[in-house]
Amino acid sequence: MAHFITFEGIEGSGKTTQIAMVAEFLRRQGHHVVTTREPGGCPIADAIREILLHPANDALVDRAELLLYAAARAQHVAEVIRPALQQGLIVLCDRYTDATLAYQGYGRGLDLDLIEELNALACADCRPHLTLVLDMPHEAGLQRALQRNSAENMTDEGRFEQESLAFHQRVREGYLALARNAPQRMRVIDATGSPGEVSERLMACLQNFLDPGMAP
Ligand code: TMP
Repeated sequence: MAHFITFEGIEGSGKTTQIAMVAEFLRRQGHHVVTTREPGGCPIADAIREILLHPANDALVDRAELLLYAAARAQHVAEVIRPALQQGLIVLCDRYTDATLAYQGYGRGLDLDLIEELNALACADCRPHLTLVLDMPHEAGLQRALQRNSAENMTDEGRFEQESLAFHQRVREGYLALARNAPQRMRVIDATGSPGEVSERLMACLQNFLDPGMAP
C-alpha cells in the first residue's frame, strides 16, 4: 500500500543516515521503497536546489526563496512523488512542506497562512501520511552539519549553515510547534545519541504506523 513518509529536522539532525537505514529496514520486510529529497529529487528541482543553497546567492530575498522552494516542490511532486504513490510504493522524502513552514515561516518570519497556501498549490493533494521530526539541540546539530560540510568539502551546501544560532533555534521551535498542532501525522523523535539508538526509536514509531495491530 502506498505511504508517503517525510523526515524533518534541523541541520545536522541525522536525517540522511536515518532515511538510508529506514529504507533498508523496509526493503528487507519486502516493501517497495523510493527515497527522495527536497529541494531536489529530479533534474529541474535539483537545478533550483543549486540556486537555493549556494552560499554565493546571499542576495536572494525571502519571498524569492519561498517561491523557489514551492516551484521545486511542484516539479518534484509531479515527476517523482505522485507517480510513485500511484504505483503503490512507499515514498521516504527528506524534507517537505513542513520545512517551508519551519524555515521560511518560523525562521525567516514569512506569513504562515501564505506558506500554507503555497504548499497546497505546490503539493496539490500529495500530503504526507506520516512525518518524523528528528529533534535535537540546535547548537549540537549545527556543529555537526558544519563539521560534515568541511569534511566532505561541500562548499555549495552552506547558505543555511551561515545563518545565526537564533535562526536555527526558531526553526527547531517551529518544528516542535508544528508537531504539537498535528499530533496525528507528526511524531517527534529524540535524535540525540548514536545512529543506532536513534534508529531504534524511529523504527518503533514506523512499525507502529505501518502495522498498528502489532504495537506493544
Ligand atoms: P538539506 O540540507 O536537508 O538537504 O536541506 C537543504 C536546506 O534547505 C536546509 O537548510 C533546509 C532548507 N529548506 C528550506 O529552507 N525550506 C524548504 O522548504 C526545504 C525543503 C528546505
